[in-house]
Amino acid sequence: PSALNLAVIPGDGIGPEVIAEAVKVLQAALPADVTLTTTEFPFGAGHFLETGRILDDSDLDELKKHDAILLGAVGGDPRDPRLKGGIIERGLLLKLRFALDHYVNLRPTTLFPNVESPLANPGDVDFVVVREGTEGPYVGNGGAIRVGTPAEVANEVSVNTAFGVERLVRYGFAVAASRPAKKLTLVHKTNVLVFAGSLWQRTVDRVALEFPDVAVDYLHIDAVTIFMVTNPGRFDTIVTDNLFGDIITDLAAAISGGIGLAASGNINPDGTFPSMFEPVHGSAPDIAGQQKADPTAAILSVALLLDHLGSVDAAARVSAAVSADLAARGSAPRTTAQIGDAIAASLT
Ligand code: NAD
Ligand code: IPM
Ligand code: MN
Repeated sequence: PSALNLAVIPGDGIGPEVIAEAVKVLQAALPADVTLTTTEFPFGAGHFLETGRILDDSDLDELKKHDAILLGAVGGDPRDPRLKGGIIERGLLLKLRFALDHYVNLRPTTLFPNVESPLANPGDVDFVVVREGTEGPYVGNGGAIRVGTPAEVANEVSVNTAFGVERLVRYGFAVAASRPAKKLTLVHKTNVLVFAGSLWQRTVDRVALEFPDVAVDYLHIDAVTIFMVTNPGRFDTIVTDNLFGDIITDLAAAISGGIGLAASGNINPDGTFPSMFEPVHGSAPDIAGQQKADPTAAILSVALLLDHLGSVDAAARVSAAVSADLAARGSAPRTTAQIGDAIAASLT
């Protein structure tokens, strides 16, 4: 018998709706001898507007005591002036990724059988984006002068360290080596972003020597958007920086059945801090509170969580249950809870 001590951050908008289903499925999937303890944390835009608090050091200390974190989505009404500048996204989500050293943002993309893609001939879509999670333009290294004047200058600096790039690239090669296709594509913009591009390319070239079984190629980020639409089957393992990875994983979701199916893991491979699992989507204010959100992305994030914690069988059962549910979906719309109930029921 063992214990799973999970921190749950339902968040805002559809976050609590999809997380309720994800926890349901997690409970159903766990082996009987594993005791699940969930501790809910109220963080998000709503909590900030009520209390003025986003996430402080004592909150981080509490979260660090858990085996893993499951997060729904955070972010409030973008028109609310009290939330401008992504104060919640940066002060909560990015703060967690940085403080817990989630340097791998793992975003698998699979077009499940019977799921409709907006592409006429999608082919076999099965790849994983290994997105850097703690560096790039996300670090907040920027500034502006003469703001609001015609002479304003606004700078955003992308930070890429040899240490940060190497550990991510190394993880990417290990992922590629573990997959049948064994192909790694570095995605960047080395023709313009020459300093960071050179660091990424040299790092890939060097680490590649340790992985002779992995075939390596390179694409510029703009060309990736072409091939992801015209020939997504060419991708197996994509390694890329924080911002490029953010953008192409929404595209990847769109071609593989929609953002409601896209899962992610913010991984700290060293195990120093808990990893965090969340759907790729946001709080979807346009459909929040209506039981219209698809909880599948959150449920597949639970599969990633189980896999990360070593419950490989339970993870595979969740993925199989999702795959079966997707294959059986008709045209009649189901509520968020109906989808979660159906997947959970098929596991017991
Ligand atoms: P979004 O992902 O919330 O929504 C984009 C579109 O996808 C909307 O039309 C929405 O209805 C739809 N959608 C999203 N999830 C869905 C689901 N599970 N089922 C069905 N449809 C779904 O992106 P956005 O509108 O750009 O952002 C809304 C807010 O969420 C912003 O505050 C943003 O900063 C935040 N955000 C948070 C996260 C996160 O917490 N990880 C991720 C992305 C965006
Ligand atoms: C994501 C989101 C976040 C990101 C935002 C909300 C900060 O878009 O998880 O993909 O850019 O990483
Ligand atoms: Mn995103």
